[in-house]
Amino acid sequence: MSNIESGFHKRNGVLHIDNISLTNVAKKYATPCYVYSASVIRKQYKALKSALEQALPADKQPLLCYACKANSNIAIIKILKNLGSGLEIVSEGELARGLKAGFSGKQIISTSFGKSDAEIKACLKADILQFNIESPDELYSINTQAKNMGKTANVAFRLNPNISGGGHSKISTGRKDDKFGNTKEDILKLYEIAKEMQHLNPVGVSIHIGSQIVQSDAFKPGFERLADLVKTLRSAGHKVTHLDIGGGFPINYNNEILLNLNEYAKLVRDIILPLDTQIQMEPGRYMVGNAGILLTKVQYIKQTPSKKFAVLDAGMNDLIRPTLYDAYHDISPVIDHNKGKRIYDVVGHICESGDIFNKNHEIATLHKGDLVVIKSVGAYGFSMASNYNSRPLPAEILIDGNKICTIGKAQSIDELMIRENIPDWL
Ligand SMILES: Cc1ncc(COP(=O)(O)O)c(C=O)c1O
Repeated sequence: MSNIESGFHKRNGVLHIDNISLTNVAKKYATPCYVYSASVIRKQYKALKSALEQALPADKQPLLCYACKANSNIAIIKILKNLGSGLEIVSEGELARGLKAGFSGKQIISTSFGKSDAEIKACLKADILQFNIESPDELYSINTQAKNMGKTANVAFRLNPNISGGGHSKISTGRKDDKFGNTKEDILKLYEIAKEMQHLNPVGVSIHIGSQIVQSDAFKPGFERLADLVKTLRSAGHKVTHLDIGGGFPINYNNEILLNLNEYAKLVRDIILPLDTQIQMEPGRYMVGNAGILLTKVQYIKQTPSKKFAVLDAGMNDLIRPTLYDAYHDISPVIDHNKGKRIYDVVGHICESGDIFNKNHEIATLHKGDLVVIKSVGAYGFSMASNYNSRPLPAEILIDGNKICTIGKAQSIDELMIRENIPDWL
């Protein structure tokens, strides 16, 4: 990649990813489409890895299990695999994607909530590294399926530490009223039960308190509770060999001051390392979030008595984060011009008042047909897209230096209806 500026940058006033201009991408692939930068994903992975390498001994390096709910495109998963990552999955579908991308079961952790029998069987068949347990009944289901298949499953118990973490209430997962995790008291009981089950091997505990956590201090109380739990389990005679310390690392949406990775790594060194276990982590958003944009076109400019709307050819069906989480995503034109700035409500094409990408957004004056990008949508963007309003799913494009490839085809109108059927009595 010599002589190529990597990642997102402007060249002659036109937004590029690596060596490829987004105007050319729009011409070739149509809009809306997600466009990802492989080099940004690699940069993110390496920055986290290097902070951990500096703080922790070589034989205690955490297994970074990419949480592929953030972006489960098999090409994206493959980039992470090639970097040496493990994989965190939450469904049979994500397991299938991981296997297709070349992961072996031993690199995969399931943190799925409400694991179905079919999913448990598929995970056992793949000999995954570990099941993180969300509720007591799961233990029985996993033991039964493992017995039927003549296998033994490693299980770790997710702690609910009763801590609030993360950038929005809907992405905070560790408070006592959240559905996730188990209390310390329950985990002590569950460890005992699992020890008696012939086809389970209780190996440790896990935690994940939320997403988009910008302060390293926010991780501290959770780690301390995890350490306290490990000590209690050990003094009750249990073996604790694996600790999964979760994900939650933030990305840049709106010039936030981001988590200092070195401070985070020091926290792991000070609190988790002395427990002498294999350490696992589950970063999702951090790996891919800043690596993706949604490339879209201004369909119309609409002026009402009180507002100027820029109506895009994308909608909340393509990107639901602003509607679901009030998430901020910067929006900017692909081509710079000097026609001054204006304030718009930048909205989508879906028939919902809530289909707003960015309210009162100051941006260079827009016209029908202008290309704009919605930024930082590589995580929880396409993976949360839907067919609402019978809008087809957009294409996904990967750029890597001089190379460009469709890694997800745009859906056609015919494909929208392919799974449906009109009964012959109608
Ligand atoms: C158990 C678990 N691990 C990891 C993640 C990934 O979180 P993030 O994308 O914030 O790193 C999530 C997100 O929901 C999760 O529920």
